[in-house]
Amino acid sequence: RAARCRVVLARPRAPVPGSKWQELRELSERAPERFWDSVAKERLLWNKPFEQVADCDMRQGKIRWFLGGQLNVSANCLDVHVARAPERVALLWERDEPGSEVKVTYRELLETTCRLANTLKRHGVRKGDRVAIYMPVSPIAVAAMLACARIGAVHTVVFAGFSAEALAGRIEDAQCKAVITCNQGVRGGRTINLKTTVDTAVKSCPSVRNVFVAHRTECKVPMGPLDIFLEEEMAKESTSCPPEPMESEDMLFMLYTSGSTGKPKGIVHTQAGYLLYAALTHQYVFDYHPGDVFGCVADIGWVTGHSYVVYGPLCNGATTVLFESTPVYPNPGRYWETVQRLGINQFYGAPTAIRLLLKYDENWVKKYDRSSLKTLGSVGEPINREAWEWFYHVVGDGKCPLVDTWWQTETGGVCIAPQPAEDGAEILPAMAMRPFFGIQPTLMDEKGKEIRGNDVSGALCISQTWPGMARTIYGDHQRFVDAYFKPYPGHYFTGDGAYRSKEGYYQITGRMDDVINISGHRLGTAEIEDALDEHPDVPETAVVGIPHDVKGEVPFAFVVLKEVGSSSQSQVIEELKSLVAAKIAKYAVPDHFLVVKRLPKTRSGKIMRRILRKVAMGQSSDLGDISTLDDPSVVTEVIQACDHYRSLESKKN
Ligand code: WT7
Repeated sequence: RAARCRVVLARPRAPVPGSKWQELRELSERAPERFWDSVAKERLLWNKPFEQVADCDMRQGKIRWFLGGQLNVSANCLDVHVARAPERVALLWERDEPGSEVKVTYRELLETTCRLANTLKRHGVRKGDRVAIYMPVSPIAVAAMLACARIGAVHTVVFAGFSAEALAGRIEDAQCKAVITCNQGVRGGRTINLKTTVDTAVKSCPSVRNVFVAHRTECKVPMGPLDIFLEEEMAKESTSCPPEPMESEDMLFMLYTSGSTGKPKGIVHTQAGYLLYAALTHQYVFDYHPGDVFGCVADIGWVTGHSYVVYGPLCNGATTVLFESTPVYPNPGRYWETVQRLGINQFYGAPTAIRLLLKYDENWVKKYDRSSLKTLGSVGEPINREAWEWFYHVVGDGKCPLVDTWWQTETGGVCIAPQPAEDGAEILPAMAMRPFFGIQPTLMDEKGKEIRGNDVSGALCISQTWPGMARTIYGDHQRFVDAYFKPYPGHYFTGDGAYRSKEGYYQITGRMDDVINISGHRLGTAEIEDALDEHPDVPETAVVGIPHDVKGEVPFAFVVLKEVGSSSQSQVIEELKSLVAAKIAKYAVPDHFLVVKRLPKTRSGKIMRRILRKVAMGQSSDLGDISTLDDPSVVTEVIQACDHYRSLESKKN
């Protein structure tokens, strides 16, 4: 899959005077600590300067930056800019209904944040308390995140597509004291009853003392004893709230994400290092310049929304777009109509949306004026060549650098990406390319030895710490150490594989563990299996990811059923679908269910997912080594069942 064609981009404009890309690169390589020391002093507003740049030991998973320093993240994102340019637009809320965008200035956002912070305080939320935010992207949701940061509470935003049970699991794990939500969400012309989901979730969460309910629609929802009308309470509060001075390493937020085993993990990010890394990458990876309108269409329920809708852009004083809608509402021109209407300069989206849009007529793009665009970005999953070319040539008219950005919830910000901020930077299609300042990627072989040289592939590790990296898994530091630092002692293991080209550029080849990526949403196959296994008629299941032309990957479930008549098989499958939707989310429901008698296992009883994946992908002639199987005849059974399933499927279509 290595890209061979070389596209050297003509720069859209003259080099920025005084831009120090080359100097920064040089310093970050020669003296990383001095580099971070100087950017941290230059870019952040400190209440108290830090005394020590870093104290890290990756063997123990000990990551600490800017020790002794105190600052407040919301003051860095708001007060700093209000002091200089209070009427600059901070948020451009692109609501679901096209043409009804709302502008929020830095002064207004600070006032809303303070009112919300005072409301939380009045209801007993204190420094260090955890607060769940279950809301789609909106100014009030951004204010909720910043209000937590202002008073030192720890937010955990839960994507509003997650089920009540998934929400409850996160609230429970984090022991949240409060939940902030809205009556309803609006997306693609439909309303989603968020408050109802929260009601169900908090029934099993005794830690929750209050549910704050904002109003996105006119719809009245029943209010219970814990519930508080958010806007009403905010109206009573003052528009100023002193920012709480926080230690650099106090928690800022956590975000749950899937691993290959067990429950989702609460990835913890702290104050100074995270903010600095989000802001620095926002500027240099996207070649952001003051005055630009930055359009990241991600939801705040994912880390992309945290770093590139909220914290990075706001720390840099940018105008950031909050995109509430979908790429196809009311038609497939939505993104580009929005680009034209809001004058977006950097557009950052997911390959899955691009793959969907390229199926439609190009006129949906061409009819809108996209001349404001300067940089395009892609994130969340590998971008295939076709999607890259379409995005670059059709959307960008071949004029805008397209940055394929690789990173993770755990990395806090972009780690590997092309660097358009550098003069004459080269960008190759569908390639994440080069490490960001201070990032040291290494490739490891199966024995745990570093693979040197170029034109090689291996397990992608990062061998030097950086301020944006996660600090721990909430409540389980040992799991943090085991998951990320045990596989290759002294290095951070990403879970991804990568190829380093002849030129020394990186290309991500995909996960090496049992994590799949559905439309850019990361999910452990074990989580889906756990949900399926709850069904009383299902003794055993195995879920694998198979390629899908729009979603990237989709789950394929192999299920073993207890003795049930074939008439009820389809009923059980329907029940299994509902189980996954209820336990996790709708997007996690497998696209395929195949009932089998047995699953292929090794002699030690481990399910051979590698083989199942091949079978599910229709590559059963190329199964590789099956000699370790306990009973190879199981494979023949599974292949037959799958062939039968495929023939039924093709008849259906
Ligand atoms: C996983 C992280 C990064 C924010 C959104 C996802 C995959 C991410 C790329 C890319 C190929 C990518 C990796 C990674 N991934 N970006 N540009 N090319 N794969 O964050 O949910 O923590 O998922 O997404 O497999 O490990 P996340």
